[in-house]
Amino acid sequence: MTVPDRLLDALTTALGSAGVLTAAASPDDVAGHVVDWRGAHRGSTPAVLRPGSTADVATAVRLCHEAGVALVPQGGNTGLCGGCVPDGSGSQLVLWLGRMRAVRDVDPVGGSATVEAGVTLRGLQDAAAGVGRLFPLSLGSEGTATVGGVLATNAGGTGVLRYGMMRDLTLGLEVVLPDGQVWDGLRALRKDNTGYDLKQLFVGAEGTLGVITAATVRLLPATPARATAWVAVHDVAAAVALLAVAQEHAAGDLTTFEVVSREAVGLVLDHAPGARDPFSAAHPWYVLVELAGSVTETLGTRLEEVLVAADERGLVADAVVAGGPAQRTALWLLREGVSEVQGHAGPSLKHDVTVPIAALPALVAATDRALEAVLPGVRRITYGHVGDGNLHHNLSKPVGAPDAVLRDRADALSAAIYDEVTRLGGSISAEHGLGSAKRDLADVYGDPVERELMRTVKRALDPRGLMNPGKVV
Ligand code: FAD
Ligand code: MLT
Ligand code: ZN
Repeated sequence: MTVPDRLLDALTTALGSAGVLTAAASPDDVAGHVVDWRGAHRGSTPAVLRPGSTADVATAVRLCHEAGVALVPQGGNTGLCGGCVPDGSGSQLVLWLGRMRAVRDVDPVGGSATVEAGVTLRGLQDAAAGVGRLFPLSLGSEGTATVGGVLATNAGGTGVLRYGMMRDLTLGLEVVLPDGQVWDGLRALRKDNTGYDLKQLFVGAEGTLGVITAATVRLLPATPARATAWVAVHDVAAAVALLAVAQEHAAGDLTTFEVVSREAVGLVLDHAPGARDPFSAAHPWYVLVELAGSVTETLGTRLEEVLVAADERGLVADAVVAGGPAQRTALWLLREGVSEVQGHAGPSLKHDVTVPIAALPALVAATDRALEAVLPGVRRITYGHVGDGNLHHNLSKPVGAPDAVLRDRADALSAAIYDEVTRLGGSISAEHGLGSAKRDLADVYGDPVERELMRTVKRALDPRGLMNPGKVV
């Protein structure tokens, strides 16, 4: 169906002219909302709705519900599974939450903050820091990703090992339901056993059950001190063994434990401005280890203990400890720079998978063989959150091959990874979600009873199927 003009008129009357951007009047501005960050998912829309308040969202959702028109909630548009963009039918409206940027409350004593959905993750971190507290979720996209988006995807990132995922940091939500009702669940309570934990239904739902308009999240004591090391290791088994050593010697302070393959580091060194290899020789794998706390000297000693113990067990090929903030930033670039630079190797096939941590070496060994058999020379740009058993096993075409090679073999390459992940008891989506990209794969690899339960929940909350249709289920 097409979106009726009278609906767009009613939305413009309700939200004001700043609240509705039509493709007819502002094609360039609308264009940025219909393609994802990688340019891998592209759709179309007659208009982008830009509500400025919860009341605006409720009105827009109600009007669309009455007209039977579908909505695609969107925040920073940094999602990696196509969940944030409309399909190509031109019959879905984008609901952009970026104007809802108020920090409604920050409570350092109670340890909570209440912010609107369009506040960026960095904005939330800054609001916490402003009262001497920490909001610990951290991602490469944090300058652009919004609180609504990280909630809707249950984002993870580089601090999950210590602090958990977005779900674990959420105390309450305000949600506009698919018919336009507002659920005010903005509670900062640490204990609340009054039936089903409804907020958790919306976290990770990727906008398919309602629109998150605000959230109350946990704040933690600040950890201004950091001790950071970049460690070269021979293989993923050594990285996993190093994780065990780090947990033994620095358990409470260990915040980040990330692995990066040489192939991935090589791309960063070639393409990220300012990137520099701290070692004189290349190594097959690297680990970024970071401890965080309140006293720099204590952390430094503990990190030293970790590295000495790991060296005694023959796990360390080389290591460097950051001597200050600038060196720390340089080491982090070797890890965080990977997503940004992979485009230089052509289009990519992303695989965001988890297995039990002990199974990571087996996963890499088996998929190396299987991928090579499918497409000789395929580049494994592998990196990720080893402390969570989560690898980004991202593929690029063989050097010098045409882009089409990767596209033509995409299904077989992905199957080589997902079959092995499933055999090892893992998940085909660790932290990015399903969106449109992995919806059907979840039916292939997921448990059928679980998938049907999800469809039951979707039908119960959104019987007309107007909230981000075609995503997740
Ligand atoms: P969008 O991309 O706009 O939307 C994502 C999904 O959420 C869509 O389905 C959308 O419909 C829905 N949505 C958005 N806002 C709302 C709302 N208010 N209510 C309901 N639904 C909504 N992810 C990780 O987990 N860990 C990482 O380490 C990580 N690193 C990244 C690094 C880079 C460079 C990039 C580009 C992405 C990375 N991501 C990572 C992906 C991550 O999912 C997103 O960055 C973030 O969670 C999405 O936020 P967003 O505001 O951009 O949401
Ligand atoms: C990251 O951890 O850098 C992202 O989640 C990975 C990606 O961009 O695939
Ligand atoms: Zn990640």
